[in-house]
Amino acid sequence: MNHDSNQYIVKTLELEGSVKDGNALFKTNCVGCHGITARGLVGPDLHRITQSFNDKEIIKQVTGGLTPPMPSFEIDPQNMANLLKYLHSLD
Ligand code: HEC
Repeated sequence: MNHDSNQYIVKTLELEGSVKDGNALFKTNCVGCHGITARGLVGPDLHRITQSFNDKEIIKQVTGGLTPPMPSFEIDPQNMANLLKYLHSLD
């Protein structure tokens, strides 16, 4: 991992996320593939995802573009923290 993405992860993990804002971001960017309630569609069900992926792995999944057809997203650290908070709320 390069220095920049490491900095991005550190910064994201320092921030307090908002479930509400994360949910809004999810609705805009992720529901087309993961479903409006994140129960899965083209992409997998994301409930309990935070039990099989840690936060770093989720950040890499979302920003990395390593598993097509899922695209890579450019999300600032605060919004990434919101998204993580939302995904944790799906436990
Ligand atoms: C174009 C469709 C598409 C979009 C848009 C998309 N995803 Fe995905 N996502 C996928 C697919 C397909 C996989 C499975 C990839 C694999 O395992 O090869 C996946 C996997 C994941 C995983 C790992 C889950 C697992 O069990 O492998 C997470 C976490 C995830 N997506 C989160 C998100 C989030 C958050 C967004 C919005 C920012 C998003 N995705 C947008 C298609 C999409």
